[in-house]
Formats: sequence, structure tokens, C-alpha cells
Amino acid sequence: MKTRITELFGIEHPIIQGGMHYVGFAEMAAAVSNAGGLGIITALTQRTPDLLAREIARCREMTDKPIGVNLTFLPSVTPPDYPGYVRAIIEGGVKIVETAGNNPSKWLPVLKENGVKVIHKCTSVRHSLKAEAIGCDAVSVDGFECGGHPGEDDIPNFILLPRAAEELKIPFVASGGMADGRSLVAALSLGAEGMNMGTRFIATREAPVHENVKQAIVAASELDTRLVMRPLRNTERVLNNPAVERLLEKEKALGASLKFEDIAGEVAGVYPRIMTEGDMDAGAWSCGMVAGLIHDIPTCKELIDGIMRDAEAIIARRLQGFLAA
Ligand SMILES: Cc1cc2nc3c(=O)[nH]c(=O)nc-3n(C[C@H](O)[C@H](O)[C@H](O)COP(=O)(O)O)c2cc1C
Repeated sequence: MKTRITELFGIEHPIIQGGMHYVGFAEMAAAVSNAGGLGIITALTQRTPDLLAREIARCREMTDKPIGVNLTFLPSVTPPDYPGYVRAIIEGGVKIVETAGNNPSKWLPVLKENGVKVIHKCTSVRHSLKAEAIGCDAVSVDGFECGGHPGEDDIPNFILLPRAAEELKIPFVASGGMADGRSLVAALSLGAEGMNMGTRFIATREAPVHENVKQAIVAASELDTRLVMRPLRNTERVLNNPAVERLLEKEKALGASLKFEDIAGEVAGVYPRIMTEGDMDAGAWSCGMVAGLIHDIPTCKELIDGIMRDAEAIIARRLQGFLAA
């Protein structure tokens, strides 16, 4: 399949694996890229720029296909060494960066000078237009369904994607709630040129996370996610568990006086315990409503080949059949 996204990134299939904290290691990115999609390493999971440089080098040993790096710009009192991470990306020869969080404009000139294409993840049309205006090459439009941070507007993809299509000139992919061939065809119909998946890629054989995480996703239904940190305007969609219930109780009890410190025990530094050790109740971890559509743990190649096969069958047979009738 050829779209503006496959052309822009030089990939075979219009399928991207979004950056994921403690999931987006070299093994994950290489497996997706080797299967013809775009695999993405998550920069901030690596504690230092040197470690990111090593992770990029490790990924290069596993694939000669294009790979990307996710740079998430968080509001922070003591920000990570972003100049160092950007240097590691450029010196590592990575030509695709997925930015997320705050406006990436400060980093665009140096990335562009070095031939890096930038896809910015946005949860609204206004932020997507801003990304286009500052010179991003593409946008990943993240609907309210998504795992992770859906923003504060709560617009699901059935509205957000066609709205983005009405306004944007640069290509965009649909993100949030994407799982299979049906998702891809729907995304293309609504104006996207591909799709970005997070949660679906965690439940794959190669995802370098504890088996308990994969089983939790397969066991979950579309009813099992919760929104946390809403009172802090830092909303995150996570899988429900006892830590999340405790957190929501605190949010209810403290109301507008809630501070990050009140819930730090449930959210700060919990990812290694969950993703690496498989301690599923250690805290809140991002997961999309799409868990309800995930019933198996295929290899990335089986997943992507299946998506492309089903998408082509839907377009060529199911949709074509309606016209013939
Ligand atoms: C466990 C997990 C961790 C994530 N970590 C990040 C991150 O560090 N930076 C980022 O930009 N997005 C992050 N995301 C969001 C994904 O890149 C992607 O946008 C989102 O999962 C899409 O929604 P879906 O889960 O419905 O496919 C994370 C998602 C999950 C599920």
C-alpha cells in the first residue's frame, strides 16, 4: 500500500509503533521495522543520551530498515538533557523523530538541518495546525480512545480525524483505538494516510515486556481503562487495577486541592516494576480502550501482515461488494 506516509518515511506499510515508556526498546522498534512498519525507540526510557546512543546502535544491529525515536517533551522543573538526546539521534543517523507533549519548535531547525523528518503527536486540530505551521512533516492525531495522554478535549477519532482532514495539508496518521485491518481502512476513509498503534504492539511476541503485561491486555475489555490525573490537567488513560482505584479515591477525596505529591506513590517511577518485573498492581500504566479488541499475542510480522491482508480484503471485496450490489 502506498500513501503519503509510506512515501515520507520510506516504509512498506502505513503502520507506526508509537513511542512507549519502558516498551520502546531496540527489540520492539526493530521487530516493527523488520515487519515493514515504522518502529520507534523511546528516548526518555534511556536515562542518559549515551544510553540512547547505545540503544540506537543496538537497534541498527537488528534491522537495516528505517527506525524512529520518540522525544516526549514533558513539563518539568528539572528537564531531561534534551540537547543531548537530540545529538544522540542525529549522530546515530536516525532520520525520523516522533515528538509529543509540548511544542517541539525549538528543536525543529537542528532536526531539519540534519535531514530528520518530524511527526508530532497531537490530541486536537488546533495543535495539529500549529505543528503544520512550525514545519512538522506529519502529525499523529491521537483520539480520546488512546492509551497514554489523550489531552483534555475528549474528542474521539470518529470526529477528530475527519476534522483534521478538513484542516491539514500535511499528511497524518490515526492514533488511538487502532488494532487491525478494519481500523486501518476506517482511518484511511476518515482522511488519515496510515495508523499509529501503542497498546496493540505491547501484546506481541517481540515486545520486550513481562508476559504478565501482555496477558493483562488480552484479558482486558474495552470497559477496563480509567482516566487518572484529570484534576491536574495531565489526564492519562490507564488500565484499571487496585493502585488506580486508590488513586481515583484520593482524587475524589482531595478534589481541587489535589497535588502531584498526593498520588506520586501510584504514578512516579512505577514503569520498571510493571513492564520489566510484571508487578501488575505496582501503579498506573498507560493502556488504550483498544484492549477490548486484542485477543492474541502474535509476532509483529504476523500482526502487520494480517492487518494489511484484511485491509486489502475489506477494500477490494467488502466495500467493492456494496457498490456492485
Ligand atoms: C504503555 C504505554 C506507554 C506510552 N508511553 C508514551 C511515551 O512515553 N511518549 C509518547 O509520546 N506516547 C506514549 N504512549 C502513547 C503511544 O505512543 C500511542 O500514542 C498510544 O498508545 C495510541 O493509542 P492506543 O494505545 O489506543 O494504540 C504510551 C502508550 C502506552 C500504551
